[in-house]
Amino acid sequence: MSNPIKNIGVLTSGGDAPGMNAAVRAVVRSAAYHSIKCVGIYQGYQGLIDDKVKVMNARSVNNIINKGGTILKSARCLEFRTKEGRQAAYKTIEKHQIDALVVIGGDGSFTGAMIFQEEFKLPVIGIPGTIDNDIFGTSHTIGYDTALNTVIEAIDKIRDTAISHNRLFFVEVMGRDAGHIALNAGIGAGAEEVLIPEENLGLERLLDSLKRSEKSGKSSSIVVVAEGDKTGRNVFEIAEYVEKNMPYYDVRVSVLGHMQRGGSPSCFDRVLASRMGVYAIESLLEGKSNVMIGVKNEQMILSPLEKAIKGKSEINRDLIRVSDILTV
Ligand code: F6P
Repeated sequence: MSNPIKNIGVLTSGGDAPGMNAAVRAVVRSAAYHSIKCVGIYQGYQGLIDDKVKVMNARSVNNIINKGGTILKSARCLEFRTKEGRQAAYKTIEKHQIDALVVIGGDGSFTGAMIFQEEFKLPVIGIPGTIDNDIFGTSHTIGYDTALNTVIEAIDKIRDTAISHNRLFFVEVMGRDAGHIALNAGIGAGAEEVLIPEENLGLERLLDSLKRSEKSGKSSSIVVVAEGDKTGRNVFEIAEYVEKNMPYYDVRVSVLGHMQRGGSPSCFDRVLASRMGVYAIESLLEGKSNVMIGVKNEQMILSPLEKAIKGKSEINRDLIRVSDILTV
């Protein structure tokens, strides 16, 4: 039987992540390797609605493996959440005779992909690309490793000035719903305390811990706060609370923000993205659909999109223990 997939569309959606370009390159080149046509869709689902589509060949993705961001651009598309939006998107699919779609993004993007697949029976496959690492079904998402390295580089610099001025710094990192970045970067950068969405030990514990470290001779400290932490206060309010209760500390806040999403991808992310892109095309050719590519113990795996969306990517609780021990 001849292969029914002759033309594959690829898009990047949601918050961008370093390594998305490497994934696009891998998808486009693997398609070329298997003599399948490939089209790039610009600005995520918005581009599908607005018919922003361009044929890509192996040469269209030259010199992008090292680039941050995404050459296909990205968007969080509200219109695609509506039936009308998805119908408009499907018209573009029909117009360009796209037989399958590769969606590189996070859980919001996969939700869109799953509904689209159910409505129009178009084969879809997800590649997890988000710095948050908050996707069930993979130990690593594309962009997470680079973001961690960006964060620890920034905190190392903050540490220099914190030491010089005997200051206590609160550093806010990304992670609306997940503390992977905060916890791992916190350990990697030697933070005193880490506040994450998965665990709310309360501000009293934070005060106790900071008082203890001050008594033990520490003159400067760094507390890493995930943006989605559950203390009920934002990083500035937490800092204010601590300053009120520990007036001898000179407190500063640093919000790292979107710098965490930029930069050249790490080797880890480039290799991960390359493997995932290749595996995505191979899986589509084997007739797989409605699944996400993941990595587990160095092996590529597939999980139903529904599981990837609904499942919870747990933090490694042993890291909390390690962090606590090392701040003695
Ligand atoms: O999902 C990735 C992420 O970087 C989150 O960590 C952050 O909360 C969010 O995106 C920010 O999104 P936006 O760039 O749309 O404000």
